[in-house]
Amino acid sequence: MKKLVFLTGAGMSAESGISTFRNSDGLWEKYPVEQVASIQGYMADPELVINFYNRLRRQLLQASPCLAHRLVASLETDYAVTVVTQNVDDLHERAGSSHIIHLHGELLKATSTLHPNDPSQVVTLREPHLDIHMGQQAKDGSQLRPAIVWFGEPVPMIEPAIHEVSQADILVVIGTSLVVYPAAGLLHYAPPACKIYLIDPADVSYDPSLGITHLQTGASEGMKKLVEMLRKGS
Ligand code: OAD
Repeated sequence: MKKLVFLTGAGMSAESGISTFRNSDGLWEKYPVEQVASIQGYMADPELVINFYNRLRRQLLQASPCLAHRLVASLETDYAVTVVTQNVDDLHERAGSSHIIHLHGELLKATSTLHPNDPSQVVTLREPHLDIHMGQQAKDGSQLRPAIVWFGEPVPMIEPAIHEVSQADILVVIGTSLVVYPAAGLLHYAPPACKIYLIDPADVSYDPSLGITHLQTGASEGMKKLVEMLRKGS
C-alpha cells in the first residue's frame, strides 16, 4: 500500500463551523494570541486562559466532521494513511481516521502545569466534567491545564510527524497558512519522489521548489477532486 500523509490546519475544520486563526473573522481577531495561546499568557492569567479553552471545548461538542474529514478517513481502504494535524479538535477521530498525530495538543485532554508533556499526567475530559476549574489538580498536584501546545513550548510530536512525512509517497496539505513552525517545515521532509498536493482557497505562500499541485478551493471540494485524481493515478 502507498503511504499517504495528510498535514491539516484550521481550514480543515472551517466547514465544520470552527473558526480559523488568521482569517478576518478568525480567533486571533477576538483574542490576542499572546494572551490565550502562549505559555507566558497562561502564567500571567491562568483563569482567563482556562476559561477560553473551556468555551472552545463546549463549541467543539456542537460541531461535526465535514465531508473533507470523512473523505480523508475513507482513503484508508486504499492507502496507509497518517493524519498529522495542527488542529486541537477531534473531528478527524470522529470521521473515522485511525492514525492521527496531534502536533498542537488536544482540546478534550488536560494535563499538569508542572509536567505538561508527561503522558502519565494526561487525562481525558468528558461530560459532566468537561470544564477545567481553577484549583483542580493534576495527578502531580499542580493546577490542571489544557493539553494544548502553546507558543513558547516544545512540540514533542514533531519527531513522529517528521518520521511519517519522510516516508510519504503522497503528502496532502489542507487548510493551513504554513506560517507556524515547526509544523510548516514538515513539507521539507517529504522525499524527492513524494507528490505534494495543497488544498486551500487562499494564495498560500510556499517554496516553489517543492513542486506543489495547488487545488485552490475549500477542503471538501478539494478532497473530492483529490480522490478523483488519485483514482485516475494523476
Ligand atoms: P490559520 O488560521 O493560520 O490558516 C487557516 C488556513 O485555512 C488559511 O490558509 C485559509 O486560507 C484556509 N482555509 C479557510 N477556509 C478554508 C476551507 N473551507 N477549506 C480549506 N482551507 C481553508 O490556521 P493554521 O495554519 O492551522 O496553534 O494555524 C496554525 C497554528 O496557529 C494553529 O494550530 C494554532 C495557531 O496558533 C496553536 O494553537 C498552538
